[in-house]
Amino acid sequence: MPKKLYLETVGCQMNVLDSELVVGTLRRQGFELTTDVQKADVILYNTGSVRQHAEDKIYSALGTLRSHKRRYPEKIIGVLGCMAQKDQERVRRRAPHVDIVCGPGQLAKMPELIAEVERTRRPQMAVSLGRAEASRPEVTGSFESYDPMRDPAMRPTAFQAFVRTQFGCDKFCTYCIVPSVRGPEQSRHPEEIGAEVRQIVNQGCKEITLTGQTVNSYKFPHGDGRTTRLSDLICRIHDTPGLERIKFITNFPRDMTDDLLDAVATLPKVCRYLHVPVQSGCNEVLRRMKRLYSVEFYQDMLNRCRERVPGVAISSDFIVGFCGESEESFQKTCDLVATAGFKNSFIFKYSPRPGTKAEDLFADDVPEEVKKRRNNDLLAIQGKVSFEDHRRKIGETVEVLVEGPSKTALKYDELPQFTGRTVTDHIVVFDGDKRLIGQTVPVHIDDASAFTLFGVVATGVLAYGRNEPQERTLVAARTERLSLPMI
Ligand code: 5AD
Ligand code: SF4
Repeated sequence: MPKKLYLETVGCQMNVLDSELVVGTLRRQGFELTTDVQKADVILYNTGSVRQHAEDKIYSALGTLRSHKRRYPEKIIGVLGCMAQKDQERVRRRAPHVDIVCGPGQLAKMPELIAEVERTRRPQMAVSLGRAEASRPEVTGSFESYDPMRDPAMRPTAFQAFVRTQFGCDKFCTYCIVPSVRGPEQSRHPEEIGAEVRQIVNQGCKEITLTGQTVNSYKFPHGDGRTTRLSDLICRIHDTPGLERIKFITNFPRDMTDDLLDAVATLPKVCRYLHVPVQSGCNEVLRRMKRLYSVEFYQDMLNRCRERVPGVAISSDFIVGFCGESEESFQKTCDLVATAGFKNSFIFKYSPRPGTKAEDLFADDVPEEVKKRRNNDLLAIQGKVSFEDHRRKIGETVEVLVEGPSKTALKYDELPQFTGRTVTDHIVVFDGDKRLIGQTVPVHIDDASAFTLFGVVATGVLAYGRNEPQERTLVAARTERLSLPMI
């Protein structure tokens, strides 16, 4: 009987991508995926460590597995990813029943590590060198780039995939653990990326999201004076037959160059969406975070993005309650959110990470209740801005790549709701049919909330009353049945 593998991912898109690669490799070794942790022979947790929350979740899951492992000692439990790299042998001190600890730069070794545990019944650890432990080339070499084995089973959907452009980060924002757990910034060879995109698109994928911690600083020097920048890379993969959409995340404000914006503006498959985290609206806080730009620089960058890419949607990340953030500093962040026109913002309460500069240099002096309140206040301001942004879309017909049933799938019993995204990354919920999944359809927007646009598939002339959802739904359903191709 094939051995069963359970893998849970808690973290960012980098962890999701890493999980896909691990599953790809292990399935080729004969493993079968299971969603039932109790039935698995190998249980893996792939965990980010950007914030404490993900780690807490995994230690708690590991805790509940302790008695399971006692009853079935032959089962193998592994902790992978950033948390493994950061905590190393500490993982086993807190959870001694863990067999494998494997950092994100060592994932290619997973089959060997599993085989070694089976053979010796001894715990195995594979982590990369710390940034200060050796020279840059040695440290870089200890983080293997690991992308050849892709497996569609772990993708967000069958037609969407992440493709890594870079590994690691060299920015060293003072709050951030990434440069130490994911190592020095390394850009992958454009040919390797191009080949991977072709492979994935041949498997039926329509939307590629190029990922990198600072994706817009992607640069591959060819050694003969030529350099491939992100704009060149996008241009190169743009004509892959079958590929419909290209996105890229996450951007660093200082590296948002005009050549990249022009690529977004002129290449039709590139989504008009930029995620460019600002983190704070206060220069003093930005300095302490070592973000290397001022609020004024960021605002100029926003203007440049909007001038060069008409209709572009921009989103941001914020950290509230960073060390020394006064009410006045926070107010400046509120003012920025109120005026910058972000499509949406991801807001995080500062969580001190051991091994970062901020942890060494500054006191975590904003009380938890204040962080919570600031988080809620900022969410409320962003909510108003998003609502306004969404309301402006009412009446438009937008192209939606349909992802699947919406979370509140069955709104009116028999008529399911579906969800997808526009080229500006707006989430749209509409009455649909599962035949639409993976297709790009025009949707007429007729309602909006702070998080979502609502509409109907615009496949013909639709007539409905604005405040009569039941009737509207029926009209939409009938229209679809009449005019959509059967698959
Ligand atoms: N505490 C809180 N949020 C953090 N982020 C990164 N490090 C921390 C931290 N120590 C946030 C930043 C980043 C996002 C991915 O996570 O906003 O952009
Ligand atoms: Fe972390 Fe800053 Fe690098 Fe982003 S740019 S991964 S926040 S160090």
